[in-house]
Amino acid sequence: MFTKQTINDVDLRGKFVLLRADYNVPLDKDGNITSDYRIKQSLPTIMALKDAGCKIVICSHLGRPTGPDDKSCSLKPIAKRLSELLGEEVMFLPDCVGDATKQATAGLQNGQVALVQNLRYYKEEEQNNEDFARVLVQDTNAELFVQDGFGVVHRAHASTDAITHFLPAVSGLLLEREVDTITNVMSNPDRPLMAIIGGAKIADKIEIIHIFLDIADVVVIGGAMANTFLLAQGIKVGDSLVDKDDLFTAKEIIQKAQKIATERPFTFYLPQDGVVATDISKTAKTRIVDWDAHVIADIEAYPKAVKAEASKVAPHEKILDIGPFSGAFIAGAMQLCKTVVWNGTMGVTETVGLQGPVGPFAHGTELVIDGLLGSHGNKPFSVLGGGDTTAYIEERKLTDMFRHVSTGGGASLELMAGKILPGVASLLDKD
Ligand code: 3PG
Repeated sequence: MFTKQTINDVDLRGKFVLLRADYNVPLDKDGNITSDYRIKQSLPTIMALKDAGCKIVICSHLGRPTGPDDKSCSLKPIAKRLSELLGEEVMFLPDCVGDATKQATAGLQNGQVALVQNLRYYKEEEQNNEDFARVLVQDTNAELFVQDGFGVVHRAHASTDAITHFLPAVSGLLLEREVDTITNVMSNPDRPLMAIIGGAKIADKIEIIHIFLDIADVVVIGGAMANTFLLAQGIKVGDSLVDKDDLFTAKEIIQKAQKIATERPFTFYLPQDGVVATDISKTAKTRIVDWDAHVIADIEAYPKAVKAEASKVAPHEKILDIGPFSGAFIAGAMQLCKTVVWNGTMGVTETVGLQGPVGPFAHGTELVIDGLLGSHGNKPFSVLGGGDTTAYIEERKLTDMFRHVSTGGGASLELMAGKILPGVASLLDKD
């Protein structure tokens, strides 16, 4: 249960509210927003504040600007998109503090929305500077602080921590939903629980891998990190992306998983086949290598003897996706699961021009999506997170079909790992 006060617990009527959102959205090189998921997910809180007649000043960071002159991190395009989504003009203020901001925000009407410029144009934001937080409150005329930027609450910054020392601070509806859903799935999941973990580096996800070994019934590893596990098992992975520093960790995880499997019903699954190519391009010549399943290699050879290369990745080849047998196995195992947590795609899905079901390295990810969406009968409760996964789901316009697609990357991983999130801890407790 969410233990912090939310906007439903306080008197909002007519208040000046400073709303912290996470509008750190991806932009293309021309400054166009390529995914507005985070902006859309902030709308219920904004609408609730508008309905209560609040004067709403929204603040956020975007990217990691080198300074105020770094125009590539301006929030101006976000104000435009937010205006379109709300169907009304959102006032954009070119500085988050200062006299002009103070004057403009003081003039806001009930229900009116303003967005101030990137907080990270001030280095004091990331330094969790108390003076900066105080000025931010003063210059936005704020009487109440609402934290709704789930994606950033794992950072102790001025707008997630210090600011709460200067005015009452409560949660928005998105933050509440994210924390509630993810904590419930980790502490009290409907079983069997499957965790599918992909992505490039084991080091980035080591904590949740260990936690899922402890709490899940099935743990699946996919994506580039699977290469490191395969190598740790002595399988030749050719020219695939491998994190040599993580080899020992991978061995430790495999040993731990083997031990758990002797103690309780538990499956630790590494891909048994993969899609390989010599380069990452749309026209790359691909083939399936069946290093462990010995199913596809047999079928392909039938009725002849299996060629040795059917089960071996050549030195110049890279594994770029899980193979069809592995995808089918994962989707099949999902038929028996009530809950699936998925973080990280199964293959190379993020390279422009390669996305979507026709992408040569996206078939494994598509097989997982099919399973999660109930194409084979069972539709498990699914919680998705991670930048590459959510970007892919958005690209495919499937976001609404999943029960929970998290807006947080690092924040959702830290929450799953049971860490205290400073931006949540700093909010008022429920009575
Ligand atoms: C994110 O996208 O993960 C959040 O907005 C946090 O951004 P940061 O990693 O730059 O702090």
